Amino acid sequence: MQHGTAAQWARRDAAAVWHGFTQMAAYEQSAPVIVERGEGNYLYDTDGRRYLDAISSLWVMTLGHADPDLNRAATEQLHRISHSTLLGNGNTAAIALAEVLRAVVPVADPHFLFASDGAAAVEQAIKIAFQYWHNQGVTDRTAYLALGSAYHGDSVGSLSVGDGGFGTDLFDPLRFGVLRTPGYDDPDWAARAISVLDEHHQELAAAVIEPLVQGAAGILVTDPDQVAAFAGAVQARGVPLICDEVATGFGRTGALFASELCGIRPDLMCLGKGITGGYVPLSATVASSDVYEEFLGEDLGPRTFYHGHSYSGNALACAVATRHLELLFERGLIDRAAEAAEHLGKALAPVAALPTVKEVRRRGLMTGVELDPPEGASRWGRRVCAAAVRTGVLLRPLGDVVVVMPPLSITDTEIDTIAATLVTAIQAVAAEEHAEP
Ligand SMILES: Cc1ncc(COP(=O)(O)O)c(C=O)c1O
Repeated sequence: MQHGTAAQWARRDAAAVWHGFTQMAAYEQSAPVIVERGEGNYLYDTDGRRYLDAISSLWVMTLGHADPDLNRAATEQLHRISHSTLLGNGNTAAIALAEVLRAVVPVADPHFLFASDGAAAVEQAIKIAFQYWHNQGVTDRTAYLALGSAYHGDSVGSLSVGDGGFGTDLFDPLRFGVLRTPGYDDPDWAARAISVLDEHHQELAAAVIEPLVQGAAGILVTDPDQVAAFAGAVQARGVPLICDEVATGFGRTGALFASELCGIRPDLMCLGKGITGGYVPLSATVASSDVYEEFLGEDLGPRTFYHGHSYSGNALACAVATRHLELLFERGLIDRAAEAAEHLGKALAPVAALPTVKEVRRRGLMTGVELDPPEGASRWGRRVCAAAVRTGVLLRPLGDVVVVMPPLSITDTEIDTIAATLVTAIQAVAAEEHAEP
């Protein structure tokens, strides 16, 4: 059945689908938006209501939903082939994508190991770093340096380099230990990490960061200089640097990659989310030639990287990603994103001035509006976002931080709508709080 009201769809949804990071017992009552279709920067629900996608469908969409040019590329590839395995064989779409990415990623002479989710790209990077040392006969470099507040995904390895939160502490017994140094909420995070490096670098298989922005931590931001100082210190000590650009990649920070803004060249880089413009799942672990070449050896020998996913190098996803990258450049969207970010900064000034807003943090289009609820108030982030959704702007909080992550294709008028909606929503929730006995 393809028809029904939003309430009917929500009932069917709750009866059959399990949503991540969602309490299913409360799902149906929380008025979920059930999307039927998308067009440009908007989503349409089953009742025909329109929502401005101000979170880019959880930070993946870049140039609009159902884009005619990207649709054409997907359809053309579907007529050729959707998938064939990359284990031991190749496909033309994956080769073409790797070639175009080679020209733009800030990694020396790179090779690409494809997967489907950001977490898998991180997992691959962790394992590659581990075996990189093993292949050189070094078996005691088994530790990782990772930052406080870090988020790298939800598989057990990526969860381990991530720093708790979101109710994931439950899984602590499954996490492997890491050397944890402060996150971007500490202005001295880089210096403190470097002093830990001085002492422990010989134990490290790798160090991992989200360059410039710790997104899931509530958009914690840092300076390019600090990232560069940290990266320089890691690499000067011979430790591979993993840059997780799953969230920051593909234009969100105002450059194609945040690493470029920092002037760094990681040894391993993780790509995901925006790589296909939010169309189809695809991720990649990018390895420099120094790393990659340590895996070369005799056929079926121990230097081989024994890891792979069924959908690695999916031809449909790769064809979309290749066309998406072309479109980013053809449409000048990286420059446009930087301009839009400037406008967003100005448009959010009235939001930042509200007495119930603690701080607005932003790097490029990645923005966090941290609310300042009164003592004892609950779920402000959720309530503000719900108020925004009711007026047609789709937002989602991380605790009391409202994340604003518009697509690169956002217009100035749409940015103004987001800002005005936020002011009204925050004021409405604050007024409700005061009105409550
Ligand atoms: C920096 C970072 N790394 C990894 C991930 C995990 O990506 P995925 O949800 O595609 O597994 C995320 C997701 O938000 C992320 O922000």
